[in-house]
Amino acid sequence: MRALISREAGGPETLRLEQIPDPVAGPGQLAISIKACGVNFPDLLMIQDLYQVKAARPFSPGAEIAGFVSAVGEGVGDFVVGDRVIGRCGVGGMAEGIALDASKCTRIPGTMPFPDAAAFQFAYETSYYALVTRGRLKSDETVLVLGASGGVGVAATQVAKALGARVIAAVSSEEKLAFARIHGADDGLIYPASISQPPDSRELSRALKAAVGAAGADVIVDPVCGALAEPALRCIAERGRYLILGFTAGIAALPMNLPLLKSCDILGINWRTFTMSQPEENHSNRETLLQMYSRGKISPVITATFPLKRGGEAIARLKDRGAMGKIVVTN
Ligand SMILES: NC(=O)c1ccc[n+]([C@@H]2O[C@H](COP(=O)([O-])OP(=O)(O)OC[C@H]3O[C@@H](n4cnc5c(N)ncnc54)[C@H](OP(=O)(O)O)[C@@H]3O)[C@@H](O)[C@H]2O)c1
Repeated sequence: MRALISREAGGPETLRLEQIPDPVAGPGQLAISIKACGVNFPDLLMIQDLYQVKAARPFSPGAEIAGFVSAVGEGVGDFVVGDRVIGRCGVGGMAEGIALDASKCTRIPGTMPFPDAAAFQFAYETSYYALVTRGRLKSDETVLVLGASGGVGVAATQVAKALGARVIAAVSSEEKLAFARIHGADDGLIYPASISQPPDSRELSRALKAAVGAAGADVIVDPVCGALAEPALRCIAERGRYLILGFTAGIAALPMNLPLLKSCDILGINWRTFTMSQPEENHSNRETLLQMYSRGKISPVITATFPLKRGGEAIARLKDRGAMGKIVVTN
């Protein structure tokens, strides 16, 4: 089968399409014929050896896939050949097939297209875990989503809206704000693509406070961080929850007096470790999300698809800050 392979640390241009052996389902595993693979920011970090998790080379990027079960390993009773599944693989998704533990796979509704299925797990399960499991979101609350036009940003917006919250989108351009509004944001603002500390950060803080309203944001979803984090934290409500999801703009240092002044919680969200330590709870979140999908409450917004041989270009879109919604690589 064909796979996009990383043999050395570097950008998307270092990936090569190669012929590798077909996957074999070991005990407890499924062999899956991959039809689609969701692209996520960690793919970009993984190939550069910049992610907190390192993969042994050679490897294929791609952390979430959808496809058909092509073989069932010994001891697997829940799946049969031909089942349509999604799987959380970490790496290996940008290939024509994969062998994956059955415990990391879930059958998908017959009506769900493979690209939607492949774009579902990372963004929606992370968002639901952040907003609901950790963020204790209530239906009448205000949620500020930073980077709201990105993969996680759009999913968090849709999930928060579906749960009855008011969503304020913060993004870096007019085009991204229009996109965020189309996909569920009630209101929003544009932040500078690069922020210098002060005076811009004070200005941004004022703009964020004006956008979320006098009471502040009850929940802040932050997959961006960098120089946005402190101005955003300054607009949080009393007893608000600041959810740290990622660092596309870099890691920030925050003044420790702010959480005391605001009486707020700052929560680190690590969905990957949650899936390992509490798989049943994550499975239950997934079932809830799939029901929301079936009822039309949430739906992946796929703005581009690339064939496997151009998977590097798909990852490069995220590097250039040029992606909106989700990008999917298809076979
Ligand atoms: N904690 C977890 O469990 C978990 C799970 C999944 C993903 N994540 C993290 O969530 C973050 C977002 O992932 P994603 O797949 O949604 O990425 P994405 O689609 O590329 O969205 C990231 C957003 O970050 C903003 N951004 C600001 N500065 C940037 C820069 N220098 N380069 C690229 N983007 C920049 C962009 O919006 P603007 O242009 O509007 O600023 C962009 O839309 C990543 O850090 C990822 O590792 C965390």
